[in-house]
Amino acid sequence: MARKPRTPRWLEAARRRQQPVPEGSRADWLARALGRAGVMPRAEAEQAIREGRVEVDGRVEQDPFASVHAGSAVRVDGQPRTLEARTLALLFHKPAGVVVAGSDPEGIGTVFERLRAVLPPRLRGYEWYAVGRLDRDTTGLLLFTNEERLVAHATSPETHLPKRYVAEVEGEPSEDALRKLREGLVLDDGPTRPAEARLPGPHRVELVLTEGRHHQVKRMLAAVGHPVRTLHREAVGNVTLDVPEGSYRVLTDAEVHQGLEFRGPG
Ligand code: URA
Repeated sequence: MARKPRTPRWLEAARRRQQPVPEGSRADWLARALGRAGVMPRAEAEQAIREGRVEVDGRVEQDPFASVHAGSAVRVDGQPRTLEARTLALLFHKPAGVVVAGSDPEGIGTVFERLRAVLPPRLRGYEWYAVGRLDRDTTGLLLFTNEERLVAHATSPETHLPKRYVAEVEGEPSEDALRKLREGLVLDDGPTRPAEARLPGPHRVELVLTEGRHHQVKRMLAAVGHPVRTLHREAVGNVTLDVPEGSYRVLTDAEVHQGLEFRGPG
């Protein structure tokens, strides 16, 4: 039997939005706003709201999609909580094996589970969104943020944010192979943008791309005859991986705004 398509959350929220939002204030829906402000991750927030534990402007609100704004007076379990949210970003060193997805059909685990396991209590209340994806076997720098607009910015092909990878490959790429990688080659989903390419060591290729298509590094290197054995991401924008595998650190505001060129909210 065909499954009924699920209404996207943003659409459901937009349909339910009734209250006028004060000028200059960002409208949002309650569960998402609680996750962005670090009060509770979204799924927990939805449950707390349905259980009647959340008040907005003096009355119990049991609709997770109820419209709110940063100045709404919110209480959770009777305690006042602010919906004011700063943009935060975390740099995480992804190990091989785990997936960048909400669940892992193979049971090895997700990056979200690994990240939560190392976060201190003060950072566990946030809903963390992965900024783009890495394949299961890819290691290295993966960013997380509480701000969906940072995800959209950093993953948009319009932003041209450079991503630096080092691949261990089969064979030794020739100057001709490097030239093709630099100038751009045609993959089955179209031509690649010019990239930086160099050989930092035997069987190793460093590639700097300003786009992030599905399996792009692996497909580019396979197209020039050098299939990838291992792949590691070292940098995104001016932010460089500098923590051990499986651990994280919080980015500074300068890294978020200059390093990732994010002009959104502080
Ligand atoms: N390109 C790939 O092929 N895989 C990744 O994980 C990232 C970029």
